[in-house]
Amino acid sequence: MKILVTGSSGWLGQTLVPRLRQAGHTVVGLDSEPGATTDVVGSVVDRALVRSTIRTKGINAIVHAAARHKPHIETHDNSEFVAVNVQGTLNLLEEAVAAKVSRFVFTSTTSLMISQKIRDGKAGGARKAVWIDETMTPLQPRNIYGVTKLAAEDLCRLFHKLHRLPIIMLRTSRFFPEEDDMAHAIKQSGENTKANEFLFRRLSVDDAAEAHVVALQKAPEIGFDTFIVSALTPFSPSDARELMADAPSVVARYFPDYRAKYEKRGWTMFDSIDRIYDSNKARRLLGFTCRTNFRQILDAL
Ligand SMILES: NC(=O)c1ccc[n+]([C@@H]2O[C@H](COP(=O)([O-])OP(=O)(O)OC[C@H]3O[C@@H](n4cnc5c(N)ncnc54)[C@H](O)[C@@H]3O)[C@@H](O)[C@H]2O)c1
Repeated sequence: MKILVTGSSGWLGQTLVPRLRQAGHTVVGLDSEPGATTDVVGSVVDRALVRSTIRTKGINAIVHAAARHKPHIETHDNSEFVAVNVQGTLNLLEEAVAAKVSRFVFTSTTSLMISQKIRDGKAGGARKAVWIDETMTPLQPRNIYGVTKLAAEDLCRLFHKLHRLPIIMLRTSRFFPEEDDMAHAIKQSGENTKANEFLFRRLSVDDAAEAHVVALQKAPEIGFDTFIVSALTPFSPSDARELMADAPSVVARYFPDYRAKYEKRGWTMFDSIDRIYDSNKARRLLGFTCRTNFRQILDAL
């Protein structure tokens, strides 16, 4: 395939572009910032650039990962989010249809499923963890990032309906390498926090990239669908109450060796887990499961 990858200089793009090239695809990376995996430096908001890139490079598949995302809420205004995440997505969809592109993969986010109420969790009076899968409604994102990503998903849905463009939307959980913005509040080191998160809300960047590779392969067959992409959780919905009240006990039930391994490192488990992303639909319908999960992280300690 000749694949346009937007956001190619970013954290995901830097892993995804070489992975696609290794698989034998021709990849054109487009990003507003230069980078080793970027061929075209420019914005997805620039419709003429999007059009000429798709046409002149003979693009027949698109991965749209470019975005303003959560960290930019502090540094960029709302209009920038609307321009990049909504108008940029519309530009790509319209030019994809015009060029009869065969498939489109949109990098979405689990963040758009998190309302203020879910975010408030235990402090907001919640008694049990929220079990989150693709059927969850209503979607009430709590910030401009989630609102604009949800709008972009709606555009994808509309374009599939109107033009039958095969589209897969991957709601990925967190794979960023930076410290969590709550790390200090919960007194865990970055590595400790990330390890804990693999139980319910994180995946590796390699797995995020691999999910896109699989989605590209499966898009024409699937037609249109949305998938949560996150390391497979060991928990089940029946754990929800205890996860909120006493997460370490639940984790110890599934992983009897975790306490000893954590203690050796001076690590701790979160007292409470307030949400779980369930990626079973991706396993069933996309045939994709993350390679890195909490078990492997424990074994590697
Ligand atoms: N990192 C995470 O934990 C995470 C979690 C869920 C979803 N996502 C989604 O994954 C995608 C990639 O995230 P990432 O972590 O690689 O982010 P990143 O910020 O590292 O990469 C995004 C890239 O998009 C580029 N970009 C921004 N505006 C652009 C524009 N107007 N035109 C062209 N390029 C533009 C940036 O320069 C950057 O290189 C995003 O869509 C994000 O919403 C990320």
